[in-house]
Amino acid sequence: MKMQKQRVLTFLLFTASLTFPSLIHSLGAKCAANAPSVQQTQVGNGYPPKFMVEVQNNCPMCPVINIHLKCGGFPQALVNPRLLKVVAPDDCVVNGGLPLSPLQEISFNYSHQKFLMHPSSWSFQCE
Ligand SMILES: *[C@@H]1O[C@H](CO)[C@@H](O)[C@H](O)[C@H]1NC(C)=O
Repeated sequence: MKMQKQRVLTFLLFTASLTFPSLIHSLGAKCAANAPSVQQTQVGNGYPPKFMVEVQNNCPMCPVINIHLKCGGFPQALVNPRLLKVVAPDDCVVNGGLPLSPLQEISFNYSHQKFLMHPSSWSFQCE
C-alpha cells in the first residue's frame, strides 16, 4: 500500500517535471540570480576600527549552505569560528557551512583594519 502511494507520487512528480519544466527551472534560476551578499559597515572609530559584517542569503525560496568567502589574511582570533571559520589563507566559511534559511542574515563584528570579504562559492539546497 505504502509502496503504491510512493509510485503514484513519483509518477505525478515525473509528469509535473515534464509538463512544467520551465517552472522547475525558473525556481533554480531565481536563486542563482540571488547570490549571497556580504556587507561591511564601520561601527567604531577607535583604533583599531570596528566593523560589522552582515552575510545574507538573498534567495527568498531556498536555504544556502557552504558559503565560502575570499577573506584575505583574516585571522581566526578576531571572530568565533562558528560564525566565520578560517579554513585556509583567503578562504573562510560562514556559519560552519550550515544552512542559512531563505533571506536569513548572519552578523558578526571585528576590530581591526578592514579586511575585504567577498563570496567565492556557495550551494543552494533546492537546486
Ligand atoms: C556589532 O556592533 C554594533 C554596533 O556597536 C552592535 O549594534 C551590534 O549588536 C554588534 N553585533 C554583534 C553581533 O555583536
